[in-house]
Amino acid sequence: MIMGGFPFPSAILLAGEPGTGKTTLAVQSLFAGASRGERGLYITAISEPQWLVQKFLSSFNFYNQEYVERGNVTFIDIGQALMKNPGEMLNIIKKKIEQHSPQRVVVDPITPICDLLQWRGETREFIHELFAFLKAYGCVATITAEMSYDDIAHSLEAYMVDGVIVLSYPEEEKVRRKFLEVLKMRGTKHTTGRQLIDITDDGIAVQAGLR
Ligand SMILES: Nc1ncnc2c1ncn2[C@@H]1O[C@H](COP(=O)(O)OP(=O)(O)O)[C@@H](O)[C@H]1O
Ligand SMILES: [Mg+2]
Repeated sequence: MIMGGFPFPSAILLAGEPGTGKTTLAVQSLFAGASRGERGLYITAISEPQWLVQKFLSSFNFYNQEYVERGNVTFIDIGQALMKNPGEMLNIIKKKIEQHSPQRVVVDPITPICDLLQWRGETREFIHELFAFLKAYGCVATITAEMSYDDIAHSLEAYMVDGVIVLSYPEEEKVRRKFLEVLKMRGTKHTTGRQLIDITDDGIAVQAGLR
């Protein structure tokens, strides 16, 4: 759908409501990179601890423990950093990225961090600085967010990134089906419109015939 993969470097927003497949797609991408010798770093905040995510993901065929042991895919939890101020939180994220020097980074999800900063009115500045850092660092950074279509149009996140992918799970005529849509992808042509996807033990795949 995006002519051979994410542009390098780039920052991609992967948006969708809970259960639409954001974590699956993001981590599937880290393992795809690892199979080509890249390093991937998965950073999570409070909503799901790292061990829970890893336990759920290890049932997928793309999950490869060897890559984890070799350090080609690393899972880290920055829940502790959330109690600190945004500046310190940014420093912790930056340090982790510099320490691992990954080609692919996933921040999954950004939503609890933003919610926490909201009451202090510090979300904008944090998002701005985090995204600016990720874009300047030189990697493919995928940031997931619990958002609906309507939220995306007005979000700073969508405005700041090079690409936006939306996963959805609408009910239409009493049937729920899963979709993936590429809303924006700078520097490459892409298939437009919602595409039906399947989630199986192999992860997420766009349905055959619709590619
Ligand atoms: N092995 C599997 N086969 C089919 N569907 C699966 C499988 N594992 C997970 N899923 C589906 O993937 C969804 C979870 O995706 P997840 O990546 O956690 O979503 P999100 O991060 O957007 O909340 C579940 O709701 C379930 O429908
Ligand atoms: Mg998730």
